[in-house]
Amino acid sequence: MKLGPLPKFISAFSDDLLAARRIDHDRAAPDAVQPAVTAEYGEYLANTCRGCHGPNLAGGLHVGPPGSPPSANITPAKSAGIGTWSHDDFIVALRDGKRPDGSDIDQAMPRWGQFMNETEIEAIWKYLQSAAPVEQQS
Ligand code: HEC
Repeated sequence: MKLGPLPKFISAFSDDLLAARRIDHDRAAPDAVQPAVTAEYGEYLANTCRGCHGPNLAGGLHVGPPGSPPSANITPAKSAGIGTWSHDDFIVALRDGKRPDGSDIDQAMPRWGQFMNETEIEAIWKYLQSAAPVEQQS
């Protein structure tokens, strides 16, 4: 199966992310997940996000260089998370590092458009909408 540049990025990225993937014993093996715009494929890819946004994606982890903001809550919670974001808001955030209000997302958050193709980003969006909302400020 073709995965695009993301796995290479993950393996080059950090030991933390690799560790986060290794302990996910319950998740489907990559070979069993078809690359398509499905929540299932998105969930597999979102393991990358969990390395910084936490196992429940509610953020609050300090992952960047000193002085970086904590990771954000990216669950579909309406106030604490990205539950009010549109599909396009999400795509712009991942590709261009901009929030819906036009503000910049800190550089501690990778510009995913460089590492992921459209199918991968769309699958993650689909999965995140189905993830459990966590109403907790990060
Ligand atoms: C290397 C660590 C890291 C990884 C991996 C990471 N993020 Fe982030 N992300 C951050 C940090 C730190 C912030 C907060 C930046 C800020 O406050 O300006 C953030 C912010 C965000 C935001 C903005 C949320 C908001 O309300 O402002 C979104 C959306 C987001 N991340 C999505 C993702 C997705 C989807 C993934 C997986 C593909 C991911 N992130 C992987 C570190 C990371």
